[in-house]
Amino acid sequence: MSDVSIRLARADDTPKIQYLHNLSVQDLCSSHYSPIQIKASLETFMPVDPGLAASGTYYLAEVGDTLVASGGWTPAVQEVGLARIRAVYVHPDWVRRGLGRSLVTQAEDAARMEGVKRFVVNSSLNAVPFYSFMGYRVVSSMELDLGRDITFPIVQMEKHCKK
Ligand SMILES: CC(C)(COP(=O)(O)OP(=O)(O)OC[C@H]1O[C@@H](n2cnc3c(N)ncnc32)[C@H](O)[C@@H]1OP(=O)(O)O)[C@@H](O)C(=O)NCCC(=O)NCCS
Repeated sequence: MSDVSIRLARADDTPKIQYLHNLSVQDLCSSHYSPIQIKASLETFMPVDPGLAASGTYYLAEVGDTLVASGGWTPAVQEVGLARIRAVYVHPDWVRRGLGRSLVTQAEDAARMEGVKRFVVNSSLNAVPFYSFMGYRVVSSMELDLGRDITFPIVQMEKHCKK
């Protein structure tokens, strides 16, 4: 991973983050979702808006100019000390090299510095083993309604910071 550098995203990175998101979901979510579910989810969700990219809490992993992974966190409005892990996506050619772990660790470390005590994430089914590896536990399951009778099951997971 010595050729990988991590930096904060900027608003003008949004198009390439969106491109990575589409690539990652189309390939890596196909183990747990149908092509119809994946197409509908990509049409419905815009996970990385310019606001998130410019938030100062969203990170990019790059090799040269190529974006190979992204992810970050945002404070959750409903509870002081609660943060949400956001939009973690790895390029299909770069999985299982520790990039997801690096970005989530970076996000958690930064959030803890801001007083965060607990993390939540809406995990796609394919990402549950990854978040379990990162110390998250399943709290509940839910089905997102994508319209046209298409649903998209996800799992809510959480992690408490060590004292
Ligand atoms: C889930 C995802 C972010 C993992 O990224 P990654 O960089 O491949 O993960 P890491 O290499 O850091 O994996 C760390 C550990 O998590 C576990 N893990 C990761 N992916 C896994 C998988 N597909 N199956 C089982 N365990 C997995 C393993 O224990 C792994 O350690 P190991 O490779 O030494 O066995 C990536 O697969 C991805 O982008 N998926 C598609 C998009 C998505 O669903 N994002 C989550 C949105 S909530």
